[in-house]
Amino acid sequence: MRLDIISVVPDLMRSPFEASIMKRSIDKGLVEVHFHDLRDYSNNNYKQIDDYQFGGGAGMVMMVEPIDKCITKLKSERDYDEVIYMTPDGETLNQGMANSLSLKGNLVILCGHYKGVDQRVRDHFVTKEISIGDYVLSGGELGAIILCDAIIRLIPGVLGNETSALTDSFQDDLLAPPIYTRPADYNGWKVPEILTSGNTPKIEAWREEQALKRTQERRPDLLEE
Ligand code: ADE
Repeated sequence: MRLDIISVVPDLMRSPFEASIMKRSIDKGLVEVHFHDLRDYSNNNYKQIDDYQFGGGAGMVMMVEPIDKCITKLKSERDYDEVIYMTPDGETLNQGMANSLSLKGNLVILCGHYKGVDQRVRDHFVTKEISIGDYVLSGGELGAIILCDAIIRLIPGVLGNETSALTDSFQDDLLAPPIYTRPADYNGWKVPEILTSGNTPKIEAWREEQALKRTQERRPDLLEE
């Protein structure tokens, strides 16, 4: 998978890709991440990429031309499956979206900043608008990182144990059951006996029951869906 991330502050985003699973995915050659500084596509010496809103109002708007130049250049080099715009008024990210995006080959991720982008960018370039939740961030960059992490860990070969992404919370519309590791008894706090019984079918049944119980208690809305 190739991810092209367009931003006015690309440096804000580099370090998450330099550690842990996202780094491993790049080192293994399963993912390529390219950052594009929108200021490199500005049409003036001040590297201006934003301007005042027509009609008045507080806050600057990201101009169409630098974004057009950047996306058009990328598209002239390869085909993209989606041009994603990170914005609080997009579709809220969920596991299903992460699953389907993890199957794609090339994605552009455009990070909004200031008030956001000129509507014409959304009308003519963007194919998918994603929000990471009902709150407003200073820009789409942190949201883009969350989106990339959610997608990258699902790409086959990225996680060591292929099954571990499949048993995540949300993969079957259930939250994950409680998990434990050694020691089996810590200062009298004991691990449920079933987990040390070696009886795999019973363990699976216990996990399913616990996942259902946890979902009923914490996220009954998932069961209604
Ligand atoms: N940009 C600002 N707020 C955002 C959000 N909640 N999700 C995605 N991008 C954003």
